[in-house]
Amino acid sequence: MPQQQRPVGVIGVGYVGLVTAVCLAHLGHEVVCLDVDEAKIDDLRRGRIPIYEPGLAELMADAGERLAFTTSYDELCDRCRVLFVAVDTPPSPSGDADLSRVERVVREIGGRGGDRLLVMKSTVPVGTGDRVMAELEAMGVEGIGYCSNPEFLREGAAVDDVLRPDRIVIGEYDQHDGDTVSELWSGIETEVVRTSVATAEMIKYASNAFLATKISFINEIANVCEHVGADVRTVAVGMGLDHRIGPSFLQAGIGYGGSCFPKDVQALKQLAGNSGYHFQLLNAVIEVNHLQKRRVVAKLQERVGRLRGKRVALLGLTFKPNTDDLREAASIVLAARLRAEGAKVTAFDPMVPPGSRPDLFPGVKLVTSALDAVDGADAVILVTEWPEFGQLDWRAVRDRMRGHHVIDGRNYLDGAAVAAAGFSYDGIGTTGDTLGGETPLVAGERS
Ligand code: UDX
Repeated sequence: MPQQQRPVGVIGVGYVGLVTAVCLAHLGHEVVCLDVDEAKIDDLRRGRIPIYEPGLAELMADAGERLAFTTSYDELCDRCRVLFVAVDTPPSPSGDADLSRVERVVREIGGRGGDRLLVMKSTVPVGTGDRVMAELEAMGVEGIGYCSNPEFLREGAAVDDVLRPDRIVIGEYDQHDGDTVSELWSGIETEVVRTSVATAEMIKYASNAFLATKISFINEIANVCEHVGADVRTVAVGMGLDHRIGPSFLQAGIGYGGSCFPKDVQALKQLAGNSGYHFQLLNAVIEVNHLQKRRVVAKLQERVGRLRGKRVALLGLTFKPNTDDLREAASIVLAARLRAEGAKVTAFDPMVPPGSRPDLFPGVKLVTSALDAVDGADAVILVTEWPEFGQLDWRAVRDRMRGHHVIDGRNYLDGAAVAAAGFSYDGIGTTGDTLGGETPLVAGERS
């Protein structure tokens, strides 16, 4: 049972804040969530969840009265001593993280004084803790402590990542404050890394940058595989069995997207640059990721020639399966490039209904099934590995199409089955053939 008598506050009920709040409530804490968005708070009070995340609705219903929602900082500060900060830190035009929302929270909390502990969940540049403490000091505020407690949650597996994490990282200025945060998570069995605030902040950026590096690395290996006749899927299996490398995040494809990797890799590069260090490796990671999406278009042109007037079907649009998130999705660049080359683009994604997001997909026809998307198409590109695309009847797909080309941007399909249905099949660094009659093992996990 929780040690904390007073409710825990969570400021910002976006993706990270809401999952954190619901998981804290699941662990037995009373939680008060604050957001400045009244409509969102109204919805949450009525039990309506603004995001799609497996398991979240069930935990929220179980939490019942342990979860409260407010738009009032006065109410939050009356009730809570420990306040998690989970507001967003979008990229600014300079590439640095925009900390204006964090600063606003600090002003609101600092202005109300009192004995409090701010716990930073938002991904913030190294040095933010020092900056917040300096700001509070400049405001003449005493008695507010600060810890960093970065999140490592993946969309689609967020609840599990919070309740069964590989580690909990706590950065602290004061041991007692670190103990308080540690106790809040005491219902979870895992390694706890207690360190300075700056080190905790860096662990978050370094982790995401390393994972992104792994992806760009395997994508480059895939590109070389295409030239030398090797199969990247089996290369990844062979590499991943070395425990120093590990099997995860070695799925070659059309590049990483989402709300974290692109933003955090850029922010770390920027942070290094601001302190006078040129982080060369990250430049390459970013560039490889950009080029990877464009290579798919080149690959398609090799198969069908000029794209003007050709019909191309995109299967999947979200940045990965099991989410409705389109932020930095590879599909956006891909659709725009295809349109720029004069192709007619039709797309299906189980989470992106027709008529939605004309801002992201101008000129793209969204339909309600994979078979409708491929109707009359010259080529199909699998962009997001939604499980239902693994079940497609490729003979039925072939019957609906004008052409016979499939590009598997995630190496997800059974290439042999697709080819047997009469298609040309191109993966990323793989021909999709089974080797020696065996289905290649799948390296690593996909969330
Ligand atoms: C990521 C981190 O995993 C998480 O720890 C952090 O807190 C937030 O960022 P998320 O953005 O939800 O989580 O997605 P993730 O599952 O990590 O995938 C990110 C992108 O990389 C996706 O576009 C995915 O398709 C791509 N990816 C992932 C690959 O291309 N290959 C892989 O092997 C793994």
